Amino acid sequence: MRQIKKVGRLSTLAVVMSGALVLSACGGGGSGDSSGSEGGSAGGEDAGEVQVMTWWAQGSEKAGLDALVEVFGEQHPDTEFVNAALAGGAGSQAKQKLQADLQAGNPPDSFQAHTGAELQDYIDAGQIEDVSGLYDEFGLTDVFPESLIEQLTVDDQIYSIPSNVHRSNVVWVNPAVLEEAGVDPSTPPADLDAWMADMEKVAATGKTPVTLGMDWTQTHLLENVLLSELGPEAYNGLWDGSTDWAGGEVNSALTKWAQIVEWSNTDRDGLDWEPALQPVMQGEAAYNVMGDWAVAAYDAQDMTAGEDYAYWPVPGTDGVFNYLADSFTMPVGAAHAGGTKAWLETISSAEGQLAFNTVKGSIPARTDIDAAEFPEYQQSAMEAFENDTIVSSLAHGAAAPVAVSTAVNQAVVKFSQGASDVDTLQQELVAATESLSQ
Ligand code: GAL
Repeated sequence: MRQIKKVGRLSTLAVVMSGALVLSACGGGGSGDSSGSEGGSAGGEDAGEVQVMTWWAQGSEKAGLDALVEVFGEQHPDTEFVNAALAGGAGSQAKQKLQADLQAGNPPDSFQAHTGAELQDYIDAGQIEDVSGLYDEFGLTDVFPESLIEQLTVDDQIYSIPSNVHRSNVVWVNPAVLEEAGVDPSTPPADLDAWMADMEKVAATGKTPVTLGMDWTQTHLLENVLLSELGPEAYNGLWDGSTDWAGGEVNSALTKWAQIVEWSNTDRDGLDWEPALQPVMQGEAAYNVMGDWAVAAYDAQDMTAGEDYAYWPVPGTDGVFNYLADSFTMPVGAAHAGGTKAWLETISSAEGQLAFNTVKGSIPARTDIDAAEFPEYQQSAMEAFENDTIVSSLAHGAAAPVAVSTAVNQAVVKFSQGASDVDTLQQELVAATESLSQ
């Protein structure tokens, strides 16, 4: 772990290194260094429309996108927003369609991509333009955390603009279900073992201790169980080969993850994240581990934190912020590059980031928006992002390439379906992550 000094909100951020993929230390360079690109407008400058691909297609996620599109309409009334969103949490459907479109030379005008390893895939494939010129033009180099700019910079070029930062390691809690089980909802368990003891008490009441959804939500739980059990340094070592996936510590964490999966709802493999959260909202289940887009689902139902629900860092991960960020790109060959530029201007503007993140449950990537402008949850997340140790999410593209998270998803869902055991799962995870240590 290393402490770094940075400008703005992240001045005391403690960063744990995880290969090339974490927010990294930056000795003052990076920000001014945006290397002469013209903002990637290699194709036409057509600003008549902008077709944007996201997976914010329904429910509370669509509400976030709608808030952003409203600001876009005000800022760029002459550019039509064409919504190419494809439903499926974490991009479970959208990323496949995007790959096919990119490979066919038929890109959208902009698409949602996670910062970190996932973005690197598109850079390596030559599918996205350097937009560092837009950082100069829109005055962005000083408003994002220097460490985030540094992470986004590859060979002096920057290939996307972040709209928000989400936190992965959050437990969403139904206080009434805990009280019924004799568990105090106001005191989060100190570690995973204490939390699992509480899950057993909930199970004894006949309610579901923890809910899960389809493959990527199981990976989402897994990354946070690994973080809780291994701690941030060894967790980061999973992504650069310095922590042994075949080792005893990982085996012990997998055994605990497997127990939690077995306590969860049996219809999990068919559910996206929002339906998987529902039983917790409705008092049929106690806990769900999900990114903080979940707060948007509570907001959409007018539920109040501290009364209807509670949230904690996953037990054993207090003081650690498991990070992911959405960002937007200018694809090579975009048909309406003028529209792309307009969209990137809105998503990076203070007004756009305030409107979007207020509804989405995330915090702004910009550091110059007053926390007081945001709801209570986001205020707490902004404080945590400033002070906590930052690590990268696997399920959401920050820690490892999509090929790795896809292989992990396949292994965990095989376990969920009863087609493997913990030792087989561990062998499959060793194989899934082998490329990371090469
Ligand atoms: C993440 C994405 C979030 C949210 C979530 C659930 O991958 O970064 O913004 O959309 O998936 O779909």
